[in-house]
Amino acid sequence: MKITYYGHSALRLDVLGTRILVDPFLSGNPLAKGVVSADTVEADVILLTHAHGDHFGDTAAIARRTGALVVANHEIVSYVQSKHGHGRVHGMNTGGSWDFPWGRLIQTYARHSSSFPDGTYGGNPNGYLLYAEGRCLYLMGDTAPFAEMAWIGEEHDVDVAFMPVGDNYTMGPDDSRRVARLIAPALTVPVHFNTFDAIRIDVEAWERRMGAAGFRTLVLRPGASFEVEPA
Ligand code: NI
Ligand code: MN
Repeated sequence: MKITYYGHSALRLDVLGTRILVDPFLSGNPLAKGVVSADTVEADVILLTHAHGDHFGDTAAIARRTGALVVANHEIVSYVQSKHGHGRVHGMNTGGSWDFPWGRLIQTYARHSSSFPDGTYGGNPNGYLLYAEGRCLYLMGDTAPFAEMAWIGEEHDVDVAFMPVGDNYTMGPDDSRRVARLIAPALTVPVHFNTFDAIRIDVEAWERRMGAAGFRTLVLRPGASFEVEPA
């Protein structure tokens, strides 16, 4: 599977020929500028962790243009249907799982909040465990640390964790090692940092501290990709 980072928490996952956009905040995202455009990006699936503008982003426009399947919690897909008239949706709720042709998705808890930019309630925020091509990805979403991360670490062999590290709106760099101990991912990719002043961190210092604690990390520049070999 090929994974491409668009800055902030936006990712593209190419899984078994399916193009999955995660939290496609592109047009207002300074890190995505010159890297990807909401007008031309390709998508078969749009996967959303919560309703905040820096995650829902360009979902409505991309879904309209591409006809992509929108996967999110019940409240978000209801909003996409009623407000944007987009019928290709799959609603879930925390703790539920579903087998898609491209992989098995488990919607996890995230400790955060979730409302649309217009104030509409967006349900509870989430993360996702994605089992695809024999691998397990953990898209943590916007979250603080929570104790049940230990259960995720016990139950799931996480190959790659996409971990928010920017602080202020989510957990910050000081939380990363505790969280990595709970989840025990083979690789940690930092997200949700350096997009705005409020979430600016020294990511090289973060890498050094994670490395010294025994955790493997990969910092992606916006536009960069990496491959996760099938297992
Ligand atoms: Ni948020
Ligand atoms: Mn956010």
